[in-house]
Amino acid sequence: MIRRAVIKGVGHYLPERVVPNSYFEDIVDTSDEWIRTRSGIERRHFAADGETTSQMATSAARAALENAGLAVDDIDAIIVATSTPDLTFPSVATMVQSELGMTQGFGFDVQAVCAGFVFALANANALILSEQVDRVLVIGSETFSRILDMSDRATCVLFGDGAGAVILEAQIGSGTVADRGILSADLNSDGRMRDMLYVDGGVSTTQTAGRLRMQGNPLFRQAVGKLTETAEKALQKVGLGDDDVDWIVPHQANIRIIQGTAKKMGVPMDRVVLTLQDHGNTSAASIPLALSVGCADGKIKRGDLIVTEAIGGGLAWGAVVLRW
Ligand code: ACO
Repeated sequence: MIRRAVIKGVGHYLPERVVPNSYFEDIVDTSDEWIRTRSGIERRHFAADGETTSQMATSAARAALENAGLAVDDIDAIIVATSTPDLTFPSVATMVQSELGMTQGFGFDVQAVCAGFVFALANANALILSEQVDRVLVIGSETFSRILDMSDRATCVLFGDGAGAVILEAQIGSGTVADRGILSADLNSDGRMRDMLYVDGGVSTTQTAGRLRMQGNPLFRQAVGKLTETAEKALQKVGLGDDDVDWIVPHQANIRIIQGTAKKMGVPMDRVVLTLQDHGNTSAASIPLALSVGCADGKIKRGDLIVTEAIGGGLAWGAVVLRW
C-alpha cells in the first residue's frame, strides 16, 4: 500500500476574445492557410485589457474545485506554472490563494516555460508522496499575448492565453500500475539551447518584460526526438510501453510535432487530445487546458492511462504518466 497523487478535479478558463488567423493577415505578411498548414492553429484566445494571469488562474481553480466537489478549505498548497506572472513578485500562486480566500497552506510558482505544468505536476506529486500535503491545486496560466512581438510573423501567430487547473489528492494505492494517480515522471533541461526560445528582457538585464524570440526551425528539430524519449522513459520507469497508452495529452505547440511524436510512439492520432486548433500554444496552460477539454468532451475517462509531454524554453522538457 502506497500513497498516490490522484486527480480529483479539473477545470479551465479561456478569455472571451477569440482571435482568428485572419486577424494576423492585417498586421503581418501571413495567411490563414500558412498558419493552419505549418502549425495546425486556427484561432486562439487573447486576454482582455487588464485581465491578468492570476485572474485566469483563479477562474480555472474555481472550476476545478467545483468539478472535484471540494472547498478552498480542503486545499493545502497551490502551485502555478507560468512564465507570464502579473508582477515580478509575489508569485501568482499567492495571488490566487488570496483571491480564493484561502488562509491556510502555501503557494509558489514554477517557471519551466511550456514544460512548466509537467514540472509542477511532478513537484506536487513529490509533496504528496513525502506526506507534506494531502491536496494540491496545480495550475497552468499564461498571458503570452503580452510578450509577443506583433511585428514578428514567425512568432505572433503561434501563441494564445488561457488557464487550466487540476486538483491532486493523496489516496492509498496498491503500488501497481493499476492504481489511479501519478505513476511516474521524467524531467530534463539543457541550458546550452537557451537561445532557441527566450524573452529578450528581464529584471536583472533590461528592467523590462521583453518580447518572445524563437528559432522555430531548430526547436522543431529537437522537439519530436526529445518528447518521444521522455514519454517512453516515463513509461519504462513503471514497466509500461507505448501500447498501454489510452491518451497522449501533449503540449499544444505544433500539429506536426504532435503527429511526429505520436507516430514515433506508435500511438494513433485518435488517441491524442488536440486543442491546438482552438487555443494555439498557451505554454504552461496547454496541458491542463487539454486535460479539462478532453474530460468535458467525454474522451478521457476514469481508469484511462495518460501520458502528458511538453518541451519549451530552456530547453526544458519532460513527461508525466498517470492513470485518470
Ligand atoms: N506566415 C508566413 N510565412 C512565415 C510565417 C508566417 N506566420 N512565419 C514564418 N514564415 C516563413 C519564414 O520566414 C520562412 O521563410 P523563408 O523560407 O523565406 O525564410 C518560411 O516561412 C519557413 O520558416 P520556418 O521557420 O523554416 O518554418 P517551419 O516549417 O519550421 O515552421 C514553426 C515554423 C511553425 C514556428 C515551426 O518551426 C515550429 O512549430 N517550431 C517549434 C515551436 C515550438 O515547438 N515551440 C514550443 C515551445 S514554445 C514555448 O516554450 C513558449
